[in-house]
Amino acid sequence: MTELNQITLTRPDDWHLHLRDGAALAAVLPHTARQFGRAIVMPNLKPPVITVADAAAYRQRILTALPAGLSFEPLMTLYLTDTTPVVEIAKAVDSGFVKAVKLFPAGATTNSDSGVTSIEKTYAVLAEMEKLGLPLLVHGEETDPAIDIFDREAAFIERTLEPLLKRFPGLKVVMEHITTADAADFVKSAGAQLAATVTAHHLLLNRNAMFTGGLRPYHYCLPVLKAEKHRQAVVATATSGNPKFFLGTDSAPHPRSAKETAIAAGGCFSAFAALELYAQIFEQAGALEKLEAFASFYGADFYGLPRNTSKITLKKETWQIPASLPYLDNDPVVPLFAGETICWKMS
Ligand code: NCD
Ligand code: ZN
Repeated sequence: MTELNQITLTRPDDWHLHLRDGAALAAVLPHTARQFGRAIVMPNLKPPVITVADAAAYRQRILTALPAGLSFEPLMTLYLTDTTPVVEIAKAVDSGFVKAVKLFPAGATTNSDSGVTSIEKTYAVLAEMEKLGLPLLVHGEETDPAIDIFDREAAFIERTLEPLLKRFPGLKVVMEHITTADAADFVKSAGAQLAATVTAHHLLLNRNAMFTGGLRPYHYCLPVLKAEKHRQAVVATATSGNPKFFLGTDSAPHPRSAKETAIAAGGCFSAFAALELYAQIFEQAGALEKLEAFASFYGADFYGLPRNTSKITLKKETWQIPASLPYLDNDPVVPLFAGETICWKMS
C-alpha cells in the first residue's frame, strides 16, 4: 500500500459528523462527500432530529444538497431525549437508514438543551436498543458545573458509562471523540460492545493550542483539548491498529460570527482537509500503514456494515489551507488550521 510519495486507501467513512441544515448544509456537505463514502450524521439541529420521521426528512435534505456526481450515503442518528418513546427504536431499525441513537447529556455541548437530564429516564429505550442491536453514541462528559472541565470525560466514565455497560452488557456503545488517556484505557479494557471515535484535532493539538499568543476560538471544541500527555495516549491508541478505535472527525462548522465573539461556539471545522490531517498524524506516529483500517475498516465493521470498495489516493504534497470558505451569507466558516500548510493532499 505504501509508496514513497503516495498512499492508496479504501474510501474512508466519517463516523461522527455535523452537517447542519439549509445553506450551511449545502456549503459543507461537498467537502465531506469528496473524501468519505458515508458518514454518521449528528442529530443536534435546532430543533433536534428526534423521530425517524425527522431523520427521514433530514436525510432527504442532505441527498438533495449533494452535488451531482458525488456518491455519499448519510447514516442517520436520532437525538435521545428523556421522552423518546420505546417504539421509535424498532421504527429506526426498520427504516434501514437510522444507524444509531445519540446521547447528549443536557447542556454538555452545542444545541444540547433537549438532551438527557438523567440516564435512568432512558433505560426502557436503551433496553430496546440492546435487544435490537442499535448502537448508542455517547457524548462522554459529565455536565455538573462543579467538575473541572478537563476532568468531565474521566468523570463520565466512572459515573455514567461504566454502570451503563454493566446494566446493558449487550448494548453497542461508541464513546465519541475521546480525548483522554482515561478514555483510551477504558475503551481498550472494556468488552467488544464498546468502541470509540477519534477526531483529527484531538490527535494533533493539545490544550495549549487554545491559548497560543491569545485566546484561539478556532481551537475551542467540546470536549475541550486536553494536556499533552492525554494527546499522546490517544495518538498511541488510535495508531495502534486496535479495531475498537476508528475515524470520526466531529467536524462541526460555525460561522465566523459565532466564533469571533465574546462567547465563542465550540466546534472545529475539519471536514475540508480531514483525511489529510489524519494522514499527517499517522505519518508522524510512524504508523501510516495503519491509517486505512482506522479510516476505512473498523467503523464499518463495528456497525455491521460492508466496507467500501472504491479507492482514494493521497499524495505527498505541500499546500495551504484557505483562510476561510463560503458558509452563510457574508459569514464564512474558518477551517481548522486556516492559513497553515499541510503535507498530504487527496487527489
Ligand atoms: C458540536 C457542534 O458544534 O455541534 N461541537 C463541538 O465542539 N464538537 C457538538 C458536539 O459534537 O459536541
Ligand atoms: Zn460532535
